[in-house]
Amino acid sequence: MLAKKSFASDNNAPVHPRILKAIRNANQGDYIAYGDDPYTEKAVEKFKEHFGKNIDVYFMLTGTGANVLGLKTVTDSFNSIITAETAHINIDECGAPEKFTGCKLITIPTANGKITVAEIKKLMHGIGDAHHSQPRVVSITQSTEMGTVYKKKEIEEVANFAHKNSMILHMDGARIANAAASLSMGFKKLTTDTGVDILSFGGTKNGMMLGEAVIFFNKEISENFKFIRKQGAQLFSKMRYISAQFIEYLSNDLWLENATHANEMAKILEKEIRKIDKIKITQPVEANGIFAIVPKKYIPSLQKKSFFYIWNEEKGEVRWMTSFNTTRADVHDFVESIKEVLRK
Ligand SMILES: Cc1ncc(COP(=O)(O)O)c(C=O)c1O
Repeated sequence: MLAKKSFASDNNAPVHPRILKAIRNANQGDYIAYGDDPYTEKAVEKFKEHFGKNIDVYFMLTGTGANVLGLKTVTDSFNSIITAETAHINIDECGAPEKFTGCKLITIPTANGKITVAEIKKLMHGIGDAHHSQPRVVSITQSTEMGTVYKKKEIEEVANFAHKNSMILHMDGARIANAAASLSMGFKKLTTDTGVDILSFGGTKNGMMLGEAVIFFNKEISENFKFIRKQGAQLFSKMRYISAQFIEYLSNDLWLENATHANEMAKILEKEIRKIDKIKITQPVEANGIFAIVPKKYIPSLQKKSFFYIWNEEKGEVRWMTSFNTTRADVHDFVESIKEVLRK
């Protein structure tokens, strides 16, 4: 049976056929495990083509693993990590960042998922005071959990402020491809060139089967990461299968094609939803997510038609996501099913 297109999450999408083919092609013969294989060597070269030569990159199994271990590398347990209240590391990682780093997460309430220097400044108290946790990392998400995108200048401002205050800038880039496509900018311009120190690079949400990466832009801080990754249970033995995916993903613009398409589908969905009086879109649609307030009484019937997540129970705010395989027909059918429920 062919499943209906889901607008609940880009994680619900299948694997892109080119990725599946790359896995199949890699499925021949024996290779040394744990990353000492030619696929991994080539994949690392691909990352260097996109981010510049001076990076250190490590492949991971999950985005949570990438975030948590990247943060662990640069913190002591007396440090704090400043991030948006809506951040995945704050809401959706079951406290793993706190557990693995021992750090206090200091969160900033945001209207749109983005944090600014003005807001971070307000938290810079008690520096050097033994009674206070010491801010060490600012973590931003690109694209954000609210479907918005940091502009290059906004990242630079946060990076400059972080560095002036001896802090590290971490970027959760689970959806960095959608942000790069949205800004028509390569990865390097958004990261290496803006002053990001550590990037969690996502592949899974944009067509890969599994595979994320941690990229360090300063090799001094990554010195012990190979040990941290192993201790953190993220060193995958049959690494060639992640590497083969990354080679394909980062070749011939597959990442860009997929993300551009997902973003375009979100724009079409936005346009159609804006025509429905009873629904109010709450965020600028800048990547592949749409947030909207739907009268609460309709939500269960809508979810029965096609499951999606409620983002804010109180407000009746829901989240719809598009992905590389969303079609215009899927969007049309989804909108029609919404209209049908709202007519009742
Ligand atoms: C912003 C963000 N960061 C990280 C992740 C990675 O999560 P996972 O550990 O499920 O791969 C996700 C997945 O939903 C996400 O949305």
